Amino acid sequence: SLIKRAYHPKVIEYYEQPKNVGSLDKGDKSVGTGVVGAPACGDVMKLQIKVEDGKIKEAVFKTFGCASAIASSSYATEYIKGLDLNDAMQLKNSDIASYLHLPPIKLHCSMLAEDAVKAAITDFKKKQDN
Ligand code: FES
Ligand code: FES
Repeated sequence: SLIKRAYHPKVIEYYEQPKNVGSLDKGDKSVGTGVVGAPACGDVMKLQIKVEDGKIKEAVFKTFGCASAIASSSYATEYIKGLDLNDAMQLKNSDIASYLHLPPIKLHCSMLAEDAVKAAITDFKKKQDN
């Protein structure tokens, strides 16, 4: 298919069987939600974390976007699961892009995942303050 010619097998693998698709209750104080959009293409990604004892216990996402964005968010949720918040904050889009072998034109898709992780963590922290 077209998609198989255009994407690296790693992207196909995550796109066809994305891990951690789902939603968590936004109102739960232990849940942080990040919603980000890519101005370049209009794709949107929602990523949520559930935190317990300072560690990310669950991470889920919903992505309305290209195969690379779906693969990036799925990989990001796998990567941050089990990490404490500071370590999860270190996830770089370049780590995602190199793992998935994204070409330069698809780098912003992995950026979306990095931004979504950071936004979810920031949202969680904000909730703890009030
Ligand atoms: Fe169309 Fe990302 S630009 S899905
Ligand atoms: Fe825009 Fe992938 S093409 S997120």
